[in-house]
Order: sequence, then C-alpha cells, then structure tokens
Amino acid sequence: MKHSFRGLIALVSSLIALALLAGCDTNTRMSTFDTKGPIAEAQLDLFMVTVWVSLFIFVLVGAVYIVAMFKFRERKDDHRPLPVQGHGNPLIEIGLIGASILLLVIVAVPTLRAIWYTHDFPVTEESKLGAWYQGEGLSAAEEDQPLTIRVEGYQWWWGFAYPQLGITSANELIIPAGKAIRLELRSKDVIHSFWLPRIAGKVDLIPGRSNGMWIQAGDSIEDWQAKTGATGSDEELRTAYAQYLQDEIHNYYYGQCAEYCGDSHARMLFRASVVSDDDFTSWVSEIKNGHQAPDDMAWEDWYAANDESPEKLTGDINEGLQLFMSRGKCATCHAVNGNPRAVGVAGPNLTKLASRQSVAAGWLNHRAEDGSVDIEQQYANFFKWIKEPNTVKPGNLMWKANGGGIGELDELLTDDEIHKISLYLQTLK
Ligand code: CUA
Repeated sequence: MKHSFRGLIALVSSLIALALLAGCDTNTRMSTFDTKGPIAEAQLDLFMVTVWVSLFIFVLVGAVYIVAMFKFRERKDDHRPLPVQGHGNPLIEIGLIGASILLLVIVAVPTLRAIWYTHDFPVTEESKLGAWYQGEGLSAAEEDQPLTIRVEGYQWWWGFAYPQLGITSANELIIPAGKAIRLELRSKDVIHSFWLPRIAGKVDLIPGRSNGMWIQAGDSIEDWQAKTGATGSDEELRTAYAQYLQDEIHNYYYGQCAEYCGDSHARMLFRASVVSDDDFTSWVSEIKNGHQAPDDMAWEDWYAANDESPEKLTGDINEGLQLFMSRGKCATCHAVNGNPRAVGVAGPNLTKLASRQSVAAGWLNHRAEDGSVDIEQQYANFFKWIKEPNTVKPGNLMWKANGGGIGELDELLTDDEIHKISLYLQTLK
C-alpha cells in the first residue's frame, strides 16, 4: 500500500515536471530573457527583482513551515501536554508588518523607476532624424524630431505608418538599429497589444485613443560604451559601435498581438527587421517610389493599353495585374505605391510585398534558413492565402470579400487566376 502510494506520487510529480518543462524552448526568437534593447532590458531587470524577492519569501516561509511540521508533530505515545496557547507577540507582529513593508518598497522603487523610464522618451541628439536619416524632403522641424511610427491594429494585421517620411507599410516593421523611436499606437477596431518580446512591449492599442511608447533595438552609443568600457578616438568608437550593431542587433525579430482580439488573435503576428541607417534610408526611398507596371512600362501607358485593348497585354504577369485590378478586386482594399489606381486602405499596403518574408501578418512564413526569401514557398503561400484565406486566418475580411462569405465576387477565382495573381504579387520586390 505504502509502496504504491509512493509510486503514484513519483508518477504525478514527473508528469507535472514534464508539463512545466514543455514550456521551455531553446528557440529564443520570442524570449524576454534574450533582450536586445534598453526597454526589454529594464523590463527584464524589474522581473528579476520580483523573482528574487518572491523566491526569498518562498524559501523563508517554506523553511519555517517545514521546521514547524517536523519539530511539533505528534509522536507515537506522545504524552507531552499541548504547548502554551498564546495570543500573539507584539514584537513578532510589528516585525512581520515592518518586513512586509520593506519587501514591498524593495519591489516598488524599481517598478516606479522602470515605469518612468519606459514612459519618458529620451530626446537624444543621436536619435533625431537630422542626425542619421539620409533621405530628402524633411522640414527642419521634422529633422529635429526622432523617428515616429504610427502602429495601427486591425483584425488581424498591423499597419505601420511613418508620417514624417510619408510612407505606409504593413506587418513587417523596418527600423534602424540603436535609435530611440517613438511609437503611436492606435486601433481601428478592437483592443490589440503591441509586443516585440526581445525589444519592447506590451502596450495596448485602444480604439478611440492614442497610446505611446518608445522602442530601441540595441544600446545607444553612450550605453554601449559604458557597458563595454570601449575607448579610443571618436572615429574608432563609432566604427566599433557600428560593428556591435551589425553583429548583435541587426536581425529579424518576431512580434505578436498580446491581447485577445477575436477569432484569429493567435495569428496576428508581425516581424521587425532591424537594419543599418543606410539600409533604412534606401528602403524608405524604394517604398516611396513604389513599383512600375509590368515590362517596365509607365503606368499611364499600361492603363492606356489596358483600357483600349486589354487582350494585347499578354503573359501571366500582365494578366495577374489585370485580375488584381478587376475581377479579383484586390485594389479595392490594397494599395501598391506607384500604381495610381491601386489605392485601397482597408487592407495592408502591398508595396514591396514580395520582399517581406511572410504573408498574412506573419502567419505564412517564407523566410529561408539563410535569411533570404524562399521563392517557391512564397508562391505557395500567396496561392494558399488567396485561395483559402479563411482556413489560414479564420474570420478575416479578405475571405469575406473574396467570395467565400459575403460574395463580393460574382464567382470564385479559378486556380489559374489565383496562379497569375500570385505570380504578379511575386514581382512586387
Ligand atoms: Cu490583435 Cu490579438
């Protein structure tokens, strides 16, 4: 009897341990313990303070409990009288209250400090747009400001607008390394939450108001210097700092909506590419310029040809674009910069869609091991997403608009049509 009871305990504890270990993952893409920036670092430090304080209380109370359990338990043939029953000891009671207050203060001080730190945007010369952004068209007032990104939450995707630079993107956030960036968080429908575990989070996107936070991938040059103790001339330091950013910070990060927001909340992911200042500047200009029509035609000519005799525009890409603009009704909701008639705003902006490494807000991935785009996988993902958006992301609006639900289309797109639209989308690099 005793034996089987012990066996049962062993079995139950191993099952519990197994369940707990299942939460451990050596993949750190979304680990808040592998921080890459001052905000995530401040949050981790605060977390560790509370862990140590809680652990201290746990061990202390647990030890007293175990000692009491063994020391005062009833033994066989125990004829000792009951201990004297007391009514509290003022010294112990005041001591315990004092100790609790002390522990709360130990937690409260760093908590308040972290709240202020993450709330107050650090205005540094290094982060001002004028200090690093090489593109044109900024006013003096804009150059004096840090980069601001307006994050917009939709069921279930992310819009990223850069108002100072006049561009909009979606689902893949591109940011320069080492710069403090101001985020304005807004929602177009229900409450979402922005969470980029290794860099910063979480702050809610609430309908009808604008929340703010700042993020920074990697340390500022001052913090980096303080941490590493690097010395040298100004130029040497800058080179070493740039090297640090390149080696440790430039990367592809994984984000996630962290507030339940409906059917496909779990599939409302996003990505963040942290890049160099130069790469950021050229990305902005590519987004601004947008895309040419197929065969490097000017849009005016393409539309003139299309309006006059559409059958003369031949080939899968041309036909894919025609479907994109007409029967597929893609342009009703999606914009493609450059194309004067594709200006929809209800869905993600598709400029440079084929350069993104995922589609459907991070849910269908086509990033190859080496960080490039896996072209075959990308085609498969585009096809799948257009053909059956509702399996990929249940409840989403594209499915409804695409004939599956509300029947905006007279009849569903054929596989051949979806094939051509996918091929056209792959040209948006
Ligand atoms: Cu958006 Cu959960």
